[in-house]
Amino acid sequence: MADHPLVIAVDGPAASGKGTIAKGLARHFGLPHLDTGKLYRAAALALLRHDGDPDSEFSAIRAAQDIAGLLDDPELKSETVGGIASRISAYPAVRAVLLERQRDFAAQESGAVLDGRDIGTVIAPHATAKLFVTASSEERARRRHAELVANGLPVHLADVLIDIRARDERDSHRSAAPLVQAEDALLLDTTALGPDDALAEAIRLVEGCLRS
Ligand code: DC
Repeated sequence: MADHPLVIAVDGPAASGKGTIAKGLARHFGLPHLDTGKLYRAAALALLRHDGDPDSEFSAIRAAQDIAGLLDDPELKSETVGGIASRISAYPAVRAVLLERQRDFAAQESGAVLDGRDIGTVIAPHATAKLFVTASSEERARRRHAELVANGLPVHLADVLIDIRARDERDSHRSAAPLVQAEDALLLDTTALGPDDALAEAIRLVEGCLRS
């Protein structure tokens, strides 16, 4: 194992803490990091900007081919973009457009950390360490709500919870690369953990994989 690059797959539902954990792992192990949700969000933003129809697979594919220049757009973070990303990510052809970029990132000689929904199952099935990060839907809604309010977006907690559950349902029940825990992924439940403790636990789990 020591002569293979270290590849860490971090999957989990919205607002589980997987992004913060993936960034922290990348820093700790000195690896490049890819937030794969950004690719789907950029496709959703391209669709919105071109007045595309999220119910049209053709429109969604065109948008996925047109994400250059959008990967750092502040609008990527919005709930509208996240919701559309979740809808268009159900099209296998949209996933196919974005697949190679993710596989190439995972195959770098330096090793890599990727976070998303299907990293351990589809993008990097041979990853050195796979984490499935989760938290209760109530706790995830509470975190997302606090984040939105801090960004000046006055939303109701109950509405955020409804959105989170709808997104979970769509991401977990689509036929193409659904959000599921890979058989060999380690579960990390962050419901009762703050960001520092969640990262410390993630590091401990990855180090355990390096020893085995
Ligand atoms: O992680 P996120 O909230 O930024 O992702 C937005 C949407 O993109 C998510 O609801 C489903 C989709 N997605 C996906 O299908 N596969 C990934 N690897 C990452 C995100």
